Amino acid sequence: MPLAIDLAIIGGTGLYKLAAMESVETLEGDTVFGTPSAPVRVGLIAGRRVAFMARHGEGHSVPPHQVNYRANLRRLVDLGVKRVLAINAVGGITPACGPRVIAVPDQIIDYTWGRISTICEEPGTPVLHVDFGEPYTPSLRAAVLRAAVDAGVQVLDGGCYGATQGPRLETRAEIARMRRDGCDLVGMTGMPEAGLAREMELDYACLALVANWAAGCGVEALGAPAPEITLDEVLANVEAATADLPRLLEALLSQ
Ligand code: HPA
Repeated sequence: MPLAIDLAIIGGTGLYKLAAMESVETLEGDTVFGTPSAPVRVGLIAGRRVAFMARHGEGHSVPPHQVNYRANLRRLVDLGVKRVLAINAVGGITPACGPRVIAVPDQIIDYTWGRISTICEEPGTPVLHVDFGEPYTPSLRAAVLRAAVDAGVQVLDGGCYGATQGPRLETRAEIARMRRDGCDLVGMTGMPEAGLAREMELDYACLALVANWAAGCGVEALGAPAPEITLDEVLANVEAATADLPRLLEALLSQ
């Protein structure tokens, strides 16, 4: 019997495979909730079995509002996964969350709409009201923070992730409202993924890679709002932030 999978990583924009993974095998398969965004790649990091899935598909063809979050997570559950580290590209709202910062958020506000956000959709399935006061699993968050210290990777402990519908970026007024609401970060894929993970009883934490200042933000750092957001900027900053990822994952899996 193969070793159990120790950790699954769901990669977001700019992260479509894990360079640090060795002996990779590809597992294709569907679920009761349909087809996941991509096959699962399973390989070794620090001698532990790790699964990787590209949230938007390996060619980034699935927009945030059309990701089948239920199928993605269910596929991992079907493979025996118990804990998931979600990697999400985000915009930074508050001054500590500038481009290239890696944050481990501890709260979420959900602004998405029209996404299937429960595994209890189908008639006859019992309704779940899971506790979601702590949307990220505290023990997995703590393990990630410990790994960052061990690996010498600077991460920001905490922050509120505001999940928007996309796929367009936000207006300055929308971001100003989110800042008043208490959001530090903005991204399009944090929900319903985190809620579904809780329903599926997965340990779940997020590593948010800040790709740009959100609309109208960065005044404290730059003296003026950051200029228009470009895809090149987003990808360059995500690439820079992911440079530390292999060390952090090795430390996490060596615990
Ligand atoms: N807004 C929403 N999602 C994002 C952003 C943003 O500014 N940057 C990267 N993902």
